[in-house]
Amino acid sequence: MRGKNIIIGICGGIAAYKTPQLVRLLKKRGANVKVALTEGGARFVSELALATVSEEPVYGRIFPPLGTEKMDFTRHISLGEWADALVIAPATANTLARLSAGLCDDMLSALFITLRPDKPVLIFPAMDGQMFLSPSVQRNIATLAAQGCMVINPESGELASGQCGVGRMPEPEAILAILEECLHSAKASSPLFGKTVVVTAGPTREKIDGVRFISNYSSGKMGFAIARAAAKRGAIVKLIAGPVHLSSPPDVERLDVESTAEMYAAAEGFFDSCDLFIGAAAVSDYRPASPCKGKMKKDDEQIELTLIKNPDILAAFGLQKSPCQLAIGFALETQNGLDNARKKLAEKNLDLIAFNFFDHKTSGFNVDTNILTLIESDGKTTELPLLTKDGAAEKLLDAIEQLCLKNAIKP
Ligand code: PMT
Repeated sequence: MRGKNIIIGICGGIAAYKTPQLVRLLKKRGANVKVALTEGGARFVSELALATVSEEPVYGRIFPPLGTEKMDFTRHISLGEWADALVIAPATANTLARLSAGLCDDMLSALFITLRPDKPVLIFPAMDGQMFLSPSVQRNIATLAAQGCMVINPESGELASGQCGVGRMPEPEAILAILEECLHSAKASSPLFGKTVVVTAGPTREKIDGVRFISNYSSGKMGFAIARAAAKRGAIVKLIAGPVHLSSPPDVERLDVESTAEMYAAAEGFFDSCDLFIGAAAVSDYRPASPCKGKMKKDDEQIELTLIKNPDILAAFGLQKSPCQLAIGFALETQNGLDNARKKLAEKNLDLIAFNFFDHKTSGFNVDTNILTLIESDGKTTELPLLTKDGAAEKLLDAIEQLCLKNAIKP
């Protein structure tokens, strides 16, 4: 960060109280920091605190008070030229609307417009969960994302209203890490940068008794390759893994689960806050109706096992997702592959499904390679050649990036 010129835009939300700490962290890293504080922001954090930690005047109104010693009537332009990056944290629903509409009636909105086009703008919305998910806020976020701004979804947790949900601004340390990543790596150009991507991987196990279970041959390799590739592109990756023998990819948050019910519960926690949900897991479709506690005795020549259907994790997400979220699935088929995959795409309301077949040698379960056919909701179908699972994951993410761009400009 040494020598980088950073503008922090602060709007009127409770999370603004954390921003002097963000300014301090940046200064400690050697950055030059200037603050643009909206009128609402000034109600939550004092100008004096921000001026003290940034060692700079704080900019609020666009017009300087007349008669000041050194008047600079074009400060909004010089600030836009000066900045290497603009970070808006917290960004309120009001500021998102003003920025997306192109208003420029205070210093923050004016310098947003005068910022050089190649300079990154990182926007951290923070507000009540219902406000965040409202169609108007989501529309404004999509407009800003289509303009090239990186909009980082808020975190889930306790909100100022006392409720729990999505809406919290990430901690200053996390904002700093995202900014550093953005300034120092080519990742920043990926539409997945800063997006929260949930990946399910591996099999699930359904207990028959205390020592036996129903499962399948999934090794988790495909899902882990996707998680690794998404993290490399700057996504915030939550990897929900069934029982597999794989080490965690770097920069990925891993949640280990065993049964479908556990995978469902872990995934559901991200349904509201994630940008993308990728279901690469081979989830057990059924589970024993009444698993025994200990080890079952083998006294009988024949036993009957009653299975009941498990909930479909991906379908639950697909059928409740908002227009700005993407649902991606896999279909492992042994017959009528493409037709079945298309049926799953429609039934689960997916944006894309990756069809693979199981041949024990080159594709599907427990091998290092895969042959994917990508089918999008508009019918576009792309057949990929035989690739390593890492290679297939990269191609899948290339297609997903295109979908992200299309989604961002959807009316
Ligand atoms: O793990 P590997 O050994 O590398 O193998 C990779 C893979 C073959 C497991 C992977 O490429 C793959 O195809 N995963 C999906 C396997 C499958 O059988 O899916 P399905 O057709 O049953 O389900 C369709 C989609 O719904 C999948 O995205 C699945 O994750 C999801 N699903 C299914 C059932 C359920 N209860 N919940 C779900 O989320």
